[in-house]
Amino acid sequence: MKKVVLAYSGGLDTSICIPLLKEHYGYDELIAVIVDVGQPEEDLKAATERGEELSDLYKLIDAKAEFVQDYIFPLIKANGNYEGYVLGTAIARPLIAKKVVEVAKGEDADAVAHGCTGKGNDQLRFDAVFRTSGLEVIAPVREMSLTREEEKLYASEHGISFESEKRWSIDENIWGRSIEGSELEDPSFFPPEEIYKWTSSVANASKEAAIMEIGFEYGVPVSLNGTEMDGISLIKKLNDVGGKHGVGRTDMIEDRVLGFKSREIYEHPAATILLEAHRDLEQLVLTRHELRFKDFVDRTWSELVYQGLVMDPLFEGLNAFVDKTQGRVNGTVHMKLEKGAARVIGRESPNALYTKDVSFDVKQEQRGAEGFSLYHGFQSSVFRKRYSD
Ligand code: ARG
Repeated sequence: MKKVVLAYSGGLDTSICIPLLKEHYGYDELIAVIVDVGQPEEDLKAATERGEELSDLYKLIDAKAEFVQDYIFPLIKANGNYEGYVLGTAIARPLIAKKVVEVAKGEDADAVAHGCTGKGNDQLRFDAVFRTSGLEVIAPVREMSLTREEEKLYASEHGISFESEKRWSIDENIWGRSIEGSELEDPSFFPPEEIYKWTSSVANASKEAAIMEIGFEYGVPVSLNGTEMDGISLIKKLNDVGGKHGVGRTDMIEDRVLGFKSREIYEHPAATILLEAHRDLEQLVLTRHELRFKDFVDRTWSELVYQGLVMDPLFEGLNAFVDKTQGRVNGTVHMKLEKGAARVIGRESPNALYTKDVSFDVKQEQRGAEGFSLYHGFQSSVFRKRYSD
C-alpha cells in the first residue's frame, strides 16, 4: 500500500493531481489536505465538495490563527516586502507545506505532493519545506510538463469539470490577493477594474477620509481605535475599511526566483496600513544604527520568505534579531485613509527616543555643537583642498 498526501486547493492543477498520482504514479491511497489560511468561503466550499469526491480521505485544516500568529506577525515585525510585494502568497506556502507534512507523518504516508508548475516560485516554496521531511516529493504537473490545455483535457476525461473557466490565476489569503496570468502577462496591458475584489478604485473610494488609531505591543498590532482585537479580526477589519478607501493596490513587475520577470497585481489593504504604521513606530523608538542595520535584516528576511527558504538557519537568526528590537516597539499610530492613500498623521510611544531638549523654543547653550561641527566635514574639506587645482 503506497500512500501520498497532496496539498490540495480545489483548482485545476491540484484536482488533476489526484487521478494522476493514482494512475500514473501508482499510489493506492491519496489524502487531500486543504489548509485554510483565509481563502474565500465559497472557494473552500467548492474545494471541499470536489476533494471529498475525488480523494480517499479529505482534510480541511483551519490554520488561520497560526498563520497570523506565527507568519503574519513576524512579517510585520520584519516589515516584510519584496520589491514592493507584501508577500501574501509567499508567506502562506511554508505553513501549508508544514501542515501537509504533519498529516503525512501522522498517516504514515510515503510521499507528499503539490500541483505547482515548473514556472513559478510556489514549487520552490513547497519543495523546500517538503524536502526537510525526508518523504518523497512529487510534483506531477511539473514532472509531466503539462500545459493548461492538456490539463483540461485530462480533467474532462476523468469527469472533473469546472463550471466557469477562470480568466486569471488568483491566490487569496487573509494577508493578500494575488492575480496573475492571461492578458496580464503583457506588462503593457491595462487591468480591467473587475480584476479587483478587495479594493475600490480611487474614483469610487469613500469620499470622507477615515482617521484611525492602531495600538502596537512588541511590534504587533493589538488594538484598533482603542479596542483590543485578535489578529484575524483586526486584519479583516482593516482589509474592509482600507479597501473602501482604495488603499492597498499594487501593479508591478517582479523578479521571480528562477530569474524571469513577471507582471503581478496584488490587493492588500490591511498589509499596507499595518506596515506603514509599524515602520513609522520603529522610526520613533529605535536608534538610527538599529534602523540602518534592520533595513538590511528586513530585506534579507523578505528575500528568504520570497524564495521559500524559511527552513534556513539564517531565518531563525534574523528573527532573533528582529524580536530583540521589537521589545520597544510599543505605542499608538494615528492614520488617515483617504482616496487610495494610508498616511501616518501622528504617533506616540512610552519607548520614544524623541526628546524636546532640542526644541527651537528652548533657550539653551548652543556652542557645544561647534566642536562637533568643526570635524563633521573634515574628510570632505581635506579632499577639496588636496584636489582643488
Ligand atoms: N508572484 C507571487 C509570488 O510568487 C504570487 C504568486 C501567486 N500565485 C498564483 N497562483 N496566482 O508569491
